[in-house]
Amino acid sequence: MTLRTEGLRKAFGGVVALDGADVEFLPGKVNALIGPNGSGKTTFFNCVTGMIKPDEGRIFFGERDLTGRAPHVVARAGVGRTFQLCRVFPRMTAVENVLAAVRPGGLLRGLRSAHRRSEIERAHNWLTRLGIEHLAEAEARNLSWGQQKLLELAGVLMGEPQTILLDEPAGGVNPALLDRIGTLVRELNSEGRTFVIVEHNMDLVMSISDHIVVFDRGRPIAAGPPERIRTDERVLGAYLGV
Ligand SMILES: Nc1ncnc2c1ncn2[C@@H]1O[C@H](COP(=O)(O)OP(=O)(O)OP(=O)(O)O)[C@@H](O)[C@H]1O
Ligand SMILES: [Mg+2]
Repeated sequence: MTLRTEGLRKAFGGVVALDGADVEFLPGKVNALIGPNGSGKTTFFNCVTGMIKPDEGRIFFGERDLTGRAPHVVARAGVGRTFQLCRVFPRMTAVENVLAAVRPGGLLRGLRSAHRRSEIERAHNWLTRLGIEHLAEAEARNLSWGQQKLLELAGVLMGEPQTILLDEPAGGVNPALLDRIGTLVRELNSEGRTFVIVEHNMDLVMSISDHIVVFDRGRPIAAGPPERIRTDERVLGAYLGV
């Protein structure tokens, strides 16, 4: 399903974070959303996932109009996300975090009992898949930053999203984990998941993306395959201030 926006606009007081953004990502592909600091990338994710309401414009996922819908509605429609500043419950174990991601209400009723066996099994399977199963019973606060990012991704994957938005998956992550994240994205994509990745690490972006959208001052200034984006003059201008 195609994720796209028409004329998306969001201002915070006098700061125009999104300035009429028309964006279309390629379904079934690894898409990247890049741009200088403050160009509106996270705000775009926040609008698309219903965390904030755009002032103007529309958001479509396939035929569905998701504009202004609540986060759980967007998630149920098949769009999952991670956060730039990773969100985990520090005093819960890794596996509890993964379970809580899929059924937050479980927190109130006592986690273990609230989850069926199969759900717990699924959580362990994702932890295994992401290479952090050995940390399943560790409290999340004892995981490294990179491991916490993988843990957050495991929670997102529990929802079996068709499209996954990652906000700076490589930010502050060590090189070994960075490789694993790149490989995982390609693997999960080959199994049919669409990705949209906000990322400043250009080596990673260029190596894993099929399609790149470049933001500058709240709207796209270029879109295309990595080969084309790498040499685009508007892109170089936006980054180098030319
Ligand atoms: N909640 C908010 N209140 C006020 N201003 C905001 C808010 N969120 C974002 N902004 C402003 O909107 C602009 C776009 O911010 P945004 O976080 O979307 O950029 P970004 O492209 O994700 O940047 P970065 O690469 O640094 O993460 C910035 O000028 C930012 O200061
Ligand atoms: Mg951001």
